[in-house]
Amino acid sequence: MQTVNTLRMLRTALAQLRVENATIALVPTMGALHEGHLTLVRRARSEADHVVASIFVNPKQFGPNEDLDAYPRRLAADAAMLEAEGVAVLWAPDAAAMYPDGFATNVSVAGVSDGLCGAARPGHFDGVATVVLKLFNQVAPDMAFFGEKDFQQLAVIRAMARDLDLTRPHVDAIIGVPTVREADGLAMSSRNRYLSPEQRAAAAVLPRAMQTAAAAIAGGTGAAEAMGALETELIAAGFTSIDYATLADAASLAPLEVLGAAPARLLVAARIGGTRLIDNIAINPAA
Ligand code: PAF
Repeated sequence: MQTVNTLRMLRTALAQLRVENATIALVPTMGALHEGHLTLVRRARSEADHVVASIFVNPKQFGPNEDLDAYPRRLAADAAMLEAEGVAVLWAPDAAAMYPDGFATNVSVAGVSDGLCGAARPGHFDGVATVVLKLFNQVAPDMAFFGEKDFQQLAVIRAMARDLDLTRPHVDAIIGVPTVREADGLAMSSRNRYLSPEQRAAAAVLPRAMQTAAAAIAGGTGAAEAMGALETELIAAGFTSIDYATLADAASLAPLEVLGAAPARLLVAARIGGTRLIDNIAINPAA
């Protein structure tokens, strides 16, 4: 695996991969890798000839009071994990390489960015869209892989690719990979390492409460009632606050009161101490 941290080095490394129509998959990350990221890499390897992974803790997607400085950075350990998974190139620019002096462009995807995490984290999805479009242009991959854990992020990136007629990758080659979970159901996240043992135990209530709410909604209970019960259960378990607990259309992310004919998603963001956890699950209408 080649680790590159300038655009010139990246272009040289990509030119070596791009021979005889070889396909390239991109797996963008912010590092602090866990099994969820490695699942993306394995899926990418199974579908493309070469995998390029990026590690960049993107300052533009963190708010002023968020955990940018505390965000875990462990490049050497991450690189070893990626190499063991057969990644060809690790693109690990620093902030000056990604955003040189004078950088002034902002990519904003209206609508799908606005609610849910976008409401609690103003500017977050502009930061994500801006850096992901740059990564797409830098690597020009045939396909790109993102975790469904960040379901709204995936929707924002797909909307951007569709609206801007991206070709590398095309919107249909932006692939969402199902969330990888710990044995007790908690969605894997780089932020789980912030949890104390007591908070970690309480956090496992989140996926269980979501399954209960999803079953109730699938059985005809309205979203307000099911989400009210879910919020009560989370607070009783030790969660500090709930940013949102929403039933939404899986494509538009527009809030729903009841399950209709189209696929829906139950999405939650909740805080436990200083840590904000997000999760989502599918609720499919009965056939
Ligand atoms: O999901 C992430 O890790 C980040 O939001 C991403 C897509 C790498 C952009 O910084």
